[in-house]
Amino acid sequence: MTIQTIALADCQVKLQHNPQVWSPFSATEILQVLKAQGYLDNLQHSHVLDFGTGSGILGIALGLAGAASITLSDYCEIAVAIAAQNAKHNGLEQIEVIHSDRFTQVQRQDYDLILCNPPVQPWLYTDLTDQSHRQRVEAWNEAGADGRLVLDSLLLEAMNHLKVGGRLITATSSRHGYAKTQHLLDVYWGQWREIYAVEQPIVPDYHGPYLKSWQAMQAQDLDLRVYQKDEQGRPFAFYHQAGVPELITLENETPTRWQQGNTGWQTITIDGQNTKTLTEVDLNRLLQAQQESCWYYMYYIVEAIKT
Ligand SMILES: C[S@@+](CC[C@H](N)C(=O)[O-])C[C@H]1O[C@@H](n2cnc3c(N)ncnc32)[C@H](O)[C@@H]1O
Repeated sequence: MTIQTIALADCQVKLQHNPQVWSPFSATEILQVLKAQGYLDNLQHSHVLDFGTGSGILGIALGLAGAASITLSDYCEIAVAIAAQNAKHNGLEQIEVIHSDRFTQVQRQDYDLILCNPPVQPWLYTDLTDQSHRQRVEAWNEAGADGRLVLDSLLLEAMNHLKVGGRLITATSSRHGYAKTQHLLDVYWGQWREIYAVEQPIVPDYHGPYLKSWQAMQAQDLDLRVYQKDEQGRPFAFYHQAGVPELITLENETPTRWQQGNTGWQTITIDGQNTKTLTEVDLNRLLQAQQESCWYYMYYIVEAIKT
């Protein structure tokens, strides 16, 4: 058994490595943000749910920071077993471990904090016929046809498991479709804010197989999940939608879809009355940037408070 030690600001988390459980890499970024913004201070009266716990890293770190009690929950049986062992490796006793698809087995309704680093990819490697025997660890980062299965359950149900004044802190991404996330936060939470926003590059070996799915989704709702950048850093995305070449640009912050016609790349103006053609200069500029720029997405951490 290999135990790795992850050094965080004030503590060291010991984690048993298992190739079938999510690597703690992205969690360390979340913990650094939480530490820098004071979220790991004064936890001694806090009851915390680490939702989609994987190795257990987030909950264990909060336990080591002094939280009164920690619940670790995950849909993956292997993750649940490893997270329980990892809690022991770190000498934590105030930990409960739950095997649960989203909130189905979560009973408590009085958490102070629900913390999550949710899965984000659309189904690709998930074995839909027998999800309990998914072999590829990538499958544990897949969440429904649009990648939102776990995020939506958080945004719609977490408040039922928080006390008044309790917080949901979740990572999310433009890959989830940020416009819908903002809409659900506005409608169901009211009081929420971004505590972190950073641009990340798409890693071809890992994200590459999912690019087409994200592009198809953004062709539906014009919410740029993944994009390239022009010479001035403005996002755009060329791709094929059902074999037809398409382009999305942001014109004065408004997403605009361009389709290739007989006389060039055209868009319908907002009043629906006229077509507008992309100038040759702009087209060449974007084609050049397409060659040079990699693909990106935005990564966010948001906090929402139950009022
Ligand atoms: C991106 S990983 C994060 C793991 C860990 N919290 C971390 O930050 O390293 C997402 C986790 O969500 C879990 N998960 C996926 N679908 C789930 C579901 N329907 N219900 C509960 N957990 C789920 C996966 O098994 C995986 O451990």
